[in-house]
Amino acid sequence: MRFVRGSILHFLADPGETAGPSAWDYREDACLAVEDGRVAGILRPDELPTGGGHIFDDRRGKLILPGFVDTHIHSAQVDVIASYGAQLLDWLERYTFPEEGRFANPAHAAEAAEFFLAELLRNGTTTASVFPTVHKQSVDAFFAAARKRRMRMQAGKVMMDRNCPEPLRDDVATAEADNRALIARWHGRDRLTYALTPRFAPTSTAAQLAMAGRLFREFPDLGMQTHLAENKDEIRWVHELFPEAEGYLDVYVRHGLVGPRAIFAHCIHLTDAELARMAALGGAASFCPTSNLFIGSGLFGLARARRAGLRVGLATDVGGGTSYSMLRTMA
Ligand code: GUN
Ligand code: ZN
Repeated sequence: MRFVRGSILHFLADPGETAGPSAWDYREDACLAVEDGRVAGILRPDELPTGGGHIFDDRRGKLILPGFVDTHIHSAQVDVIASYGAQLLDWLERYTFPEEGRFANPAHAAEAAEFFLAELLRNGTTTASVFPTVHKQSVDAFFAAARKRRMRMQAGKVMMDRNCPEPLRDDVATAEADNRALIARWHGRDRLTYALTPRFAPTSTAAQLAMAGRLFREFPDLGMQTHLAENKDEIRWVHELFPEAEGYLDVYVRHGLVGPRAIFAHCIHLTDAELARMAALGGAASFCPTSNLFIGSGLFGLARARRAGLRVGLATDVGGGTSYSMLRTMA
Protein backbone atom coordinates (compact mmCIF):
# COMPACT_ATOMS: atom_id res chain seq x y z
CA MET A 1 0.00 0.00 0.00
CA ARG A 2 1.11 3.54 -0.75
CA PHE A 3 0.16 6.41 1.56
CA VAL A 4 0.28 9.97 0.31
CA ARG A 5 0.06 12.58 3.07
CA GLY A 6 -1.12 16.14 2.45
CA SER A 7 -4.28 18.27 2.38
CA ILE A 8 -7.03 16.31 0.61
CA LEU A 9 -9.91 18.00 -1.22
CA HIS A 10 -12.66 16.32 -3.18
CA PHE A 11 -16.21 17.16 -4.24
CA LEU A 12 -19.44 15.41 -3.27
CA ALA A 13 -21.66 17.56 -5.52
CA ASP A 14 -21.23 20.36 -8.06
CA PRO A 15 -20.24 23.35 -5.87
CA GLY A 16 -21.62 25.63 -8.58
CA GLU A 17 -25.08 24.23 -7.90
CA THR A 18 -24.95 23.04 -4.29
CA ALA A 19 -23.70 25.86 -2.11
CA GLY A 20 -21.90 25.25 1.15
CA PRO A 21 -19.88 22.52 2.74
CA SER A 22 -22.15 19.64 1.71
CA ALA A 23 -20.62 20.03 -1.78
CA TRP A 24 -17.08 19.25 -0.68
CA ASP A 25 -14.86 17.31 1.68
CA TYR A 26 -11.59 18.90 2.83
CA ARG A 27 -9.04 17.43 5.24
CA GLU A 28 -6.16 19.64 6.21
CA ASP A 29 -3.82 16.78 7.10
CA ALA A 30 -4.76 13.32 5.84
CA CYS A 31 -3.38 10.30 4.04
CA LEU A 32 -4.61 8.88 0.77
CA ALA A 33 -4.23 5.10 0.71
CA VAL A 34 -3.48 3.74 -2.77
CA GLU A 35 -3.49 0.05 -3.63
CA ASP A 36 -2.58 -1.27 -7.11
CA GLY A 37 -3.02 2.23 -8.54
CA ARG A 38 -6.49 2.70 -7.04
CA VAL A 39 -7.65 4.85 -4.14
CA ALA A 40 -8.43 2.52 -1.24
CA GLY A 41 -9.43 5.15 1.33
CA ILE A 42 -8.50 8.20 3.36
CA LEU A 43 -6.85 7.81 6.77
CA ARG A 44 -5.95 10.20 9.56
CA PRO A 45 -2.19 10.39 10.13
CA ASP A 46 -2.60 8.57 13.50
CA GLU A 47 -4.26 5.66 11.65
CA LEU A 48 -1.24 5.03 9.42
CA PRO A 49 0.09 1.47 9.75
CA THR A 50 3.60 1.05 11.00
CA GLY A 51 6.00 -1.55 9.78
CA GLY A 52 7.46 -2.50 6.45
CA GLY A 53 6.03 -3.19 3.05
CA HIS A 54 4.43 0.25 2.70
CA ILE A 55 5.46 3.35 0.79
CA PHE A 56 5.05 6.65 2.63
CA ASP A 57 4.96 9.72 0.41
CA ASP A 58 5.03 12.94 2.44
CA ARG A 59 3.47 15.82 0.46
CA ARG A 60 2.47 18.01 3.40
CA GLY A 61 1.89 21.61 2.30
CA LYS A 62 0.46 20.38 -1.02
CA LEU A 63 -3.14 19.88 -2.09
CA ILE A 64 -4.20 16.39 -3.23
CA LEU A 65 -7.33 16.24 -5.36
CA PRO A 66 -8.88 14.05 -8.05
CA GLY A 67 -7.76 14.56 -11.63
CA PHE A 68 -9.52 17.25 -13.65
CA VAL A 69 -11.94 16.39 -16.46
CA ASP A 70 -11.47 18.44 -19.63
CA THR A 71 -14.69 18.01 -21.60
CA HIS A 72 -13.37 19.32 -24.94
CA ILE A 73 -9.84 19.54 -26.33
CA HIS A 74 -7.97 18.94 -29.61
CA SER A 75 -4.85 16.77 -29.38
CA ALA A 76 -3.61 17.94 -32.80
CA GLN A 77 -3.71 21.68 -32.07
CA VAL A 78 -0.78 22.07 -29.70
CA ASP A 79 1.10 24.17 -32.27
CA VAL A 80 -1.96 26.28 -33.07
CA ILE A 81 -2.25 27.85 -29.60
CA ALA A 82 -2.08 31.67 -29.81
CA SER A 83 -2.23 31.84 -33.62
CA TYR A 84 -2.84 35.48 -34.27
CA GLY A 85 -5.85 37.46 -35.25
CA ALA A 86 -8.68 35.48 -36.80
CA GLN A 87 -12.24 34.44 -36.09
CA LEU A 88 -13.38 30.83 -36.24
CA LEU A 89 -13.74 30.03 -39.95
CA ASP A 90 -10.62 31.95 -40.95
CA TRP A 91 -8.68 30.46 -38.01
CA LEU A 92 -9.59 26.95 -39.13
CA GLU A 93 -8.48 27.58 -42.75
CA ARG A 94 -5.30 29.50 -41.96
CA TYR A 95 -3.87 27.64 -39.01
CA THR A 96 -5.79 24.59 -37.90
CA PHE A 97 -6.39 22.60 -41.07
CA PRO A 98 -2.75 22.85 -42.26
CA GLU A 99 -1.54 21.76 -38.82
CA GLU A 100 -3.94 18.80 -38.65
CA GLY A 101 -2.70 17.72 -42.11
CA ARG A 102 0.63 16.78 -40.53
CA PHE A 103 -1.11 13.98 -38.60
CA ALA A 104 -1.32 11.79 -41.72
CA ASN A 105 2.22 10.81 -40.71
CA PRO A 106 2.00 8.14 -37.96
CA ALA A 107 5.41 9.10 -36.53
CA HIS A 108 4.28 12.71 -36.09
CA ALA A 109 0.94 11.55 -34.65
CA ALA A 110 2.72 9.32 -32.12
CA GLU A 111 5.18 11.99 -31.03
CA ALA A 112 2.41 14.60 -30.72
CA ALA A 113 0.20 12.24 -28.65
CA GLU A 114 3.06 11.67 -26.18
CA PHE A 115 3.65 15.40 -25.75
CA PHE A 116 -0.06 16.19 -25.48
CA LEU A 117 -0.80 13.58 -22.79
CA ALA A 118 2.29 14.49 -20.78
CA GLU A 119 1.08 18.09 -20.87
CA LEU A 120 -2.41 17.09 -19.65
CA LEU A 121 -0.95 15.13 -16.71
CA ARG A 122 1.43 17.96 -15.85
CA ASN A 123 -1.66 20.17 -15.51
CA GLY A 124 -3.59 17.65 -13.40
CA THR A 125 -5.99 16.47 -16.12
CA THR A 126 -6.56 12.72 -16.13
CA THR A 127 -9.81 12.51 -18.13
CA ALA A 128 -10.70 14.29 -21.38
CA SER A 129 -12.94 14.21 -24.43
CA VAL A 130 -10.53 14.65 -27.31
CA PHE A 131 -10.54 15.42 -31.05
CA PRO A 132 -7.51 13.94 -32.84
CA THR A 133 -7.79 14.35 -36.67
CA VAL A 134 -9.52 12.70 -39.63
CA HIS A 135 -6.64 10.22 -39.94
CA LYS A 136 -7.32 6.90 -38.28
CA GLN A 137 -3.60 6.54 -37.54
CA SER A 138 -3.84 9.67 -35.38
CA VAL A 139 -6.61 8.02 -33.34
CA ASP A 140 -4.57 4.82 -32.99
CA ALA A 141 -1.54 6.82 -31.85
CA PHE A 142 -3.62 8.78 -29.36
CA PHE A 143 -5.36 5.79 -27.78
CA ALA A 144 -2.14 3.76 -27.61
CA ALA A 145 -0.38 6.58 -25.74
CA ALA A 146 -3.38 7.10 -23.39
CA ARG A 147 -3.60 3.38 -22.64
CA LYS A 148 0.09 3.22 -21.78
CA ARG A 149 -0.49 5.95 -19.17
CA ARG A 150 -3.77 4.39 -17.97
CA MET A 151 -5.60 7.66 -18.60
CA ARG A 152 -9.39 7.88 -18.93
CA MET A 153 -9.80 9.23 -22.44
CA GLN A 154 -12.65 9.56 -24.90
CA ALA A 155 -11.79 10.24 -28.56
CA GLY A 156 -12.73 9.38 -32.13
CA LYS A 157 -11.80 9.90 -35.75
CA VAL A 158 -12.84 13.38 -36.88
CA MET A 159 -15.35 13.14 -39.75
CA MET A 160 -15.21 15.75 -42.55
CA ASP A 161 -16.45 15.01 -46.04
CA ARG A 162 -16.81 18.57 -47.37
CA ASN A 163 -15.68 22.18 -46.93
CA CYS A 164 -12.14 21.34 -45.90
CA PRO A 165 -8.83 20.87 -47.75
CA GLU A 166 -8.67 17.75 -49.88
CA PRO A 167 -6.01 15.92 -47.77
CA LEU A 168 -8.30 16.17 -44.72
CA ARG A 169 -11.43 15.03 -46.51
CA ASP A 170 -12.98 11.59 -46.04
CA ASP A 171 -16.21 10.20 -47.45
CA VAL A 172 -19.16 8.40 -45.91
CA ALA A 173 -17.97 4.86 -46.69
CA THR A 174 -14.38 5.39 -45.52
CA ALA A 175 -15.49 7.21 -42.39
CA GLU A 176 -17.90 4.40 -41.53
CA ALA A 177 -15.27 1.69 -42.12
CA ASP A 178 -12.66 3.61 -40.08
CA ASN A 179 -15.13 4.19 -37.23
CA ARG A 180 -16.07 0.52 -37.11
CA ALA A 181 -12.44 -0.63 -37.10
CA LEU A 182 -11.52 1.88 -34.37
CA ILE A 183 -14.55 0.99 -32.23
CA ALA A 184 -13.56 -2.68 -32.41
CA ARG A 185 -9.96 -1.88 -31.50
CA TRP A 186 -10.41 0.69 -28.74
CA HIS A 187 -13.91 1.13 -27.35
CA GLY A 188 -14.18 -0.13 -23.78
CA ARG A 189 -10.56 -1.22 -23.67
CA ASP A 190 -9.15 -0.41 -20.23
CA ARG A 191 -10.28 3.17 -19.54
CA LEU A 192 -10.89 4.23 -23.16
CA THR A 193 -14.18 5.23 -24.77
CA TYR A 194 -14.81 5.79 -28.45
CA ALA A 195 -16.73 8.91 -29.45
CA LEU A 196 -18.30 9.58 -32.84
CA THR A 197 -16.73 12.88 -33.88
CA PRO A 198 -18.29 14.77 -36.77
CA ARG A 199 -16.23 18.00 -36.61
CA PHE A 200 -19.27 20.29 -37.02
CA ALA A 201 -22.25 20.52 -39.36
CA PRO A 202 -20.49 22.63 -42.06
CA THR A 203 -17.82 19.98 -42.74
CA SER A 204 -20.16 16.97 -42.98
CA THR A 205 -22.79 16.21 -45.61
CA ALA A 206 -26.23 15.18 -44.44
CA ALA A 207 -25.32 11.64 -45.57
CA GLN A 208 -22.29 11.60 -43.27
CA LEU A 209 -24.26 12.92 -40.29
CA ALA A 210 -26.91 10.28 -40.97
CA MET A 211 -24.23 7.57 -40.95
CA ALA A 212 -22.93 8.91 -37.61
CA GLY A 213 -26.49 8.81 -36.25
CA ARG A 214 -26.91 5.19 -37.37
CA LEU A 215 -23.68 4.19 -35.58
CA PHE A 216 -24.80 6.08 -32.46
CA ARG A 217 -28.01 4.01 -32.42
CA GLU A 218 -26.17 0.76 -33.17
CA PHE A 219 -23.59 1.31 -30.37
CA PRO A 220 -25.54 3.16 -27.66
CA ASP A 221 -22.63 3.29 -25.21
CA LEU A 222 -20.39 5.31 -27.54
CA GLY A 223 -19.82 9.00 -26.92
CA MET A 224 -20.62 11.69 -29.49
CA GLN A 225 -18.82 15.02 -29.71
CA THR A 226 -19.01 17.99 -32.05
CA HIS A 227 -19.17 21.80 -32.14
CA LEU A 228 -22.34 23.91 -31.98
CA ALA A 229 -23.26 27.60 -32.23
CA GLU A 230 -19.79 29.00 -31.56
CA ASN A 231 -19.66 31.86 -34.04
CA LYS A 232 -22.28 33.96 -35.89
CA ASP A 233 -20.81 33.42 -39.38
CA GLU A 234 -20.68 29.69 -38.69
CA ILE A 235 -24.38 29.72 -37.74
CA ARG A 236 -25.33 31.66 -40.92
CA TRP A 237 -23.37 29.10 -42.96
CA VAL A 238 -25.22 26.18 -41.31
CA HIS A 239 -28.55 27.82 -42.21
CA GLU A 240 -27.39 28.02 -45.86
CA LEU A 241 -26.11 24.44 -45.94
CA PHE A 242 -29.15 22.91 -44.20
CA PRO A 243 -32.11 25.10 -45.26
CA GLU A 244 -34.56 22.36 -44.36
CA ALA A 245 -33.49 22.39 -40.69
CA GLU A 246 -35.12 24.66 -38.12
CA GLY A 247 -31.73 25.83 -36.86
CA TYR A 248 -28.22 24.65 -35.99
CA LEU A 249 -29.19 22.32 -33.13
CA ASP A 250 -31.96 20.85 -35.28
CA VAL A 251 -29.36 19.61 -37.81
CA TYR A 252 -27.90 17.36 -35.13
CA VAL A 253 -31.31 16.37 -33.71
CA ARG A 254 -32.56 15.30 -37.16
CA HIS A 255 -29.59 13.02 -37.56
CA GLY A 256 -30.01 11.34 -34.18
CA LEU A 257 -26.91 12.88 -32.63
CA VAL A 258 -28.38 14.55 -29.54
CA GLY A 259 -28.71 12.55 -26.32
CA PRO A 260 -27.21 12.01 -22.89
CA ARG A 261 -23.86 10.78 -24.25
CA ALA A 262 -23.39 13.74 -26.61
CA ILE A 263 -21.12 16.74 -25.91
CA PHE A 264 -21.51 20.00 -27.84
CA ALA A 265 -18.61 22.42 -27.63
CA HIS A 266 -19.32 26.14 -27.18
CA CYS A 267 -23.14 26.55 -27.50
CA ILE A 268 -22.66 30.30 -27.12
CA HIS A 269 -25.36 31.53 -29.48
CA LEU A 270 -28.17 29.01 -28.92
CA THR A 271 -31.67 30.49 -28.76
CA ASP A 272 -33.84 29.98 -25.65
CA ALA A 273 -35.84 27.35 -27.56
CA GLU A 274 -32.63 25.51 -28.54
CA LEU A 275 -31.32 25.55 -24.96
CA ALA A 276 -34.60 24.09 -23.71
CA ARG A 277 -34.65 21.45 -26.46
CA MET A 278 -31.09 20.36 -25.81
CA ALA A 279 -31.75 20.14 -22.07
CA ALA A 280 -34.88 18.04 -22.72
CA LEU A 281 -32.93 15.66 -24.97
CA GLY A 282 -30.13 15.34 -22.39
CA GLY A 283 -27.23 16.70 -24.49
CA ALA A 284 -24.39 18.45 -22.62
CA ALA A 285 -22.49 21.66 -23.41
CA SER A 286 -18.77 22.30 -23.06
CA PHE A 287 -18.02 25.77 -21.75
CA CYS A 288 -14.67 26.86 -23.26
CA PRO A 289 -13.98 30.30 -21.75
CA THR A 290 -10.39 30.90 -22.91
CA SER A 291 -11.21 29.80 -26.45
CA ASN A 292 -14.41 31.84 -26.58
CA LEU A 293 -12.37 34.92 -25.70
CA PHE A 294 -9.27 34.14 -27.76
CA ILE A 295 -11.11 33.41 -31.03
CA GLY A 296 -13.52 36.21 -30.21
CA SER A 297 -16.59 34.01 -30.43
CA GLY A 298 -18.47 35.63 -27.56
CA LEU A 299 -19.39 34.99 -23.94
CA PHE A 300 -21.19 31.82 -22.88
CA GLY A 301 -24.18 32.49 -20.59
CA LEU A 302 -23.52 29.95 -17.86
CA ALA A 303 -26.35 31.11 -15.59
CA ARG A 304 -28.73 31.15 -18.56
CA ALA A 305 -27.75 27.60 -19.54
CA ARG A 306 -28.20 26.42 -15.96
CA ARG A 307 -31.63 28.05 -15.76
CA ALA A 308 -32.57 26.12 -18.90
CA GLY A 309 -31.56 22.89 -17.13
CA LEU A 310 -28.65 22.21 -19.48
CA ARG A 311 -25.73 20.10 -18.26
CA VAL A 312 -22.50 22.08 -18.64
CA GLY A 313 -18.89 20.95 -18.29
CA LEU A 314 -15.75 23.07 -18.37
CA ALA A 315 -13.21 22.67 -21.18
CA THR A 316 -9.92 24.18 -22.34
CA ASP A 317 -10.54 23.73 -26.10
CA VAL A 318 -6.80 23.89 -26.80
CA GLY A 319 -5.72 25.06 -29.47
CA GLY A 320 -8.57 27.65 -29.67
CA GLY A 321 -8.08 27.80 -25.91
CA THR A 322 -4.89 29.21 -24.50
CA SER A 323 -4.05 26.93 -21.58
CA TYR A 324 -4.08 23.20 -20.77
CA SER A 325 -4.69 24.09 -17.14
CA MET A 326 -8.23 23.61 -15.87
CA LEU A 327 -7.28 25.88 -12.94
CA ARG A 328 -6.39 28.74 -15.29
CA THR A 329 -9.50 27.99 -17.32
CA MET A 330 -11.67 28.17 -14.19
CA ALA A 331 -10.06 31.50 -13.31
N1 GUN B 1 -15.36 24.32 -35.01
C1 GUN B 1 -15.02 23.35 -35.88
N2 GUN B 1 -13.76 22.93 -35.68
C2 GUN B 1 -13.28 23.62 -34.64
C3 GUN B 1 -12.03 23.64 -33.95
O1 GUN B 1 -11.10 22.90 -34.26
N3 GUN B 1 -11.92 24.52 -32.91
C4 GUN B 1 -12.94 25.34 -32.54
N4 GUN B 1 -12.76 26.16 -31.51
N5 GUN B 1 -14.11 25.36 -33.18
C5 GUN B 1 -14.28 24.51 -34.21
ZN1 ZN C 1 -13.11 22.47 -30.38
